[in-house]
Amino acid sequence: DAAAPNIAPVYDMVVVSNRLPVDYLGGEGAQTQWKASPGGLVTALEPVMRAADGAWVGWTGVAEREFEPFEHDGITIVPVPLSADEVEDYYEGFSNDTLWPLYHDVIAPPRYHREWWDAYVRVNRRFAEAAANAASDGAVVWVQDYQLQLVPRMLREIRPDLVIGFFNHIPFPAYGIYSQLPWRRQVIAGLLGADVIGFQRAADAGNFSRAVRRLFGYRTRGTVIDVRDDDGKVRHVVARHFPISIDAAAFEQMARRPEVQERAREIRKSLGDPDIVMLGVDRLDYTKGIRHRMKAFGELLRDGRLSVEEATLVQVASPSRERVDTYRQLRDEIELQVGRLNGDHSTLGHQAITYLHHGYPREEMAALYLAADVMLVTALRDGMNLVAKEYVASRYDDDGVLVLSEFTGASDELRQAVLVNPHDIDGLKDAMVEAARMPKRERARRMRALRKRVRDNDVANWSATFLETLTGAGPISPGVPDG
Ligand code: G6P
Repeated sequence: DAAAPNIAPVYDMVVVSNRLPVDYLGGEGAQTQWKASPGGLVTALEPVMRAADGAWVGWTGVAEREFEPFEHDGITIVPVPLSADEVEDYYEGFSNDTLWPLYHDVIAPPRYHREWWDAYVRVNRRFAEAAANAASDGAVVWVQDYQLQLVPRMLREIRPDLVIGFFNHIPFPAYGIYSQLPWRRQVIAGLLGADVIGFQRAADAGNFSRAVRRLFGYRTRGTVIDVRDDDGKVRHVVARHFPISIDAAAFEQMARRPEVQERAREIRKSLGDPDIVMLGVDRLDYTKGIRHRMKAFGELLRDGRLSVEEATLVQVASPSRERVDTYRQLRDEIELQVGRLNGDHSTLGHQAITYLHHGYPREEMAALYLAADVMLVTALRDGMNLVAKEYVASRYDDDGVLVLSEFTGASDELRQAVLVNPHDIDGLKDAMVEAARMPKRERARRMRALRKRVRDNDVANWSATFLETLTGAGPISPGVPDG
């Protein structure tokens, strides 16, 4: 069995997540190469950790390798090793083939395997030990996301002196769905080891509290849960929503750089300078509604409501979880659909869909956002969706239209977007046309309001609110339901 890394217990703040901000790329020793990792969790936490003097405990994305703790971009990284079997059973299996589809309202069928659960318990214990090894006396440990739900309780058992927070980056489902999980009690018990449990939306926190009442019968008052510990004592745990965000100022600054603007012009030119550039940016994931979006676009071309001379769709689908079957199938389906739509609608000079199966650096993303007249975020279920916020933050020119699914956490805040139900293809088509034809003044009015919202609740605000609540200095007093 691999062991948790040994490190001096000197950190007053420890963040624990499955995914580190960097993935191992190759090389040894001083020649070791790292690349930026995908996903919203890393996007949000990286600026927080650069500002904090803490340690970040997590996995390097590669099996069967041990690394010493190291510094990266001003962040202390503490790698936790996983064996090849653990990657299969804990990461690809239980995390991404059981919990991920279950928590996203069973868009894909979750699979329940007892060996996967066993690996999940084992790996969660290793992460808990690694965090315990790094944390100073009375330190704050902030555990992240669905891959590590057992860590709060395990950590409390090893180190009762710690202040423990947990944040769930993805949705928490209604009890009727959650109750499918054969280990539903153990997971809730694991989470209740934390002092504060954060969710993206008020509805997620409500679903969680309901599950706690149903499974444990604990009393809940507003956001406070009275948890009875094994010693019979009652502990108050706060469960509420803290909508996550991005470093809005950094995105705006990047978008204002002349070379990024030049790149945006270049992108439009290479697309044949169409009137309307539509853009989708997602990890290649079945929760993102990529097929619904492309179907709607294809029908608009077929119906003649848009033409390839005037409009084009750029779809960035960054590679994700490529060894999980559901993701493999999705990729095949999407690539078949892109091929068909391009075959049916493209002309020699004009391509209907430009499909890119890559991840890109942030500068390139900012240029793409600036080049896009219409941003399509059509997720079927999404904890927050930070791409929507990145697009808004980049549009310092108060232009561009965001089409946003109601099934994203972001839609609670970004009310001036064109809101859609992506299952309703006709409604989605109308929204896409509305966005494409929206008068400039209306675009500016909406974008100004959206930008203000993203600036006012940026990621620094998110982490400060969470950490203040956790350390008791926060504005949330027990028993007061939040709005
Ligand atoms: C989502 C999850 C993160 C995860 C990211 C990328 O944003 O909430 O926990 O890190 O997707 O997925 P991956 O499996 O590559 O870490």
